[in-house]
Amino acid sequence: MNSAFKKEVTAGLTSFPKYLSSKYFYDKTGDKLFQDIMAMPSYYLTACEFEIISKNTFTIGELFRDKENGLDLIELGAGDGKKTKVLLKYMAENNFNFIYKPIDISENAVELLSNNLAHEMPTLNVDAEVGEYFEVLERLKSFNKRKKVIMFLGSNIGNLPHPRAIEFLTKLKDAMGPEDLLFMGFDQKKNPQTILDAYNDETGITAAFNKNVLTRINRELGGNFEVENFKHWEVYDPETGTAKSFLIATKAMEVTIEDLQLTVNFEEWETIHTEISQKYDDKIVNWLAVEAGLEIETSFTDQKAYYKNYAFRRKE
Ligand code: AVJ
Repeated sequence: MNSAFKKEVTAGLTSFPKYLSSKYFYDKTGDKLFQDIMAMPSYYLTACEFEIISKNTFTIGELFRDKENGLDLIELGAGDGKKTKVLLKYMAENNFNFIYKPIDISENAVELLSNNLAHEMPTLNVDAEVGEYFEVLERLKSFNKRKKVIMFLGSNIGNLPHPRAIEFLTKLKDAMGPEDLLFMGFDQKKNPQTILDAYNDETGITAAFNKNVLTRINRELGGNFEVENFKHWEVYDPETGTAKSFLIATKAMEVTIEDLQLTVNFEEWETIHTEISQKYDDKIVNWLAVEAGLEIETSFTDQKAYYKNYAFRRKE
């Protein structure tokens, strides 16, 4: 983990233009900031997906069910499990024979979720794991004994540009059997202002979330970033559906990162690209699915049609 972090920070900060991966937002502080983001009214994604799962619990649950052998429910990027718990409760109360396997890159998140579930749903069969999505995918193949449902909620796929999303979906498909399901959330294109507001809150929570990657470099790699000299900036391109986050140097700076034996120079207004949050429509989701050898079985949306959950099957 630490060596991957070192490698990627070196690559990103010595490249032009500079970039850092949003996957490094998530440590204890970052997880907490993301919780705060999910609680912001302007960050509509969480409430929309919660609405979809709450209003369609029966239909979604029964879609997942296998009466004969039960199933393995595998969740990538489980986070705090708030939305998933709605389904877990339904399944636990309706004689589903299943194990729940949450996987997250944040050790902290996995631990919190495991403890919480042990407390709230003590009879649930939970087998949590820490790992990166791509890394964990290989291991998914060994689950082929009975039906598996892979969940990837929160529009987490939006962090991947389309070619990488296709690569990711293809690997998921390769790990799926003909009966398996992939259940995923995709934030939809909408009024660009609504999207900007979700990533541009006045309270500065999203800015702090982005800057947390610099704080981590300071703490974990001996960096001396002066975080207050960076400004968080969000843009949304309504044509491509891509929301993009930057940290911008508000003055010229020299930053040293001891553990990397690296000195990085910033010009005034130089950028570090930190995240993309891709927005979708049916056409794009269908295209991604086809490219990956998947097929949309059904989909669910919220009242405002801001967000959609799709169930995919392997295309035979
Ligand atoms: C967790 C990747 C879905 O892109 O909407 C929230 C992360 N970044 N606010 C997103 C995020 C800024 C979030 N995902």
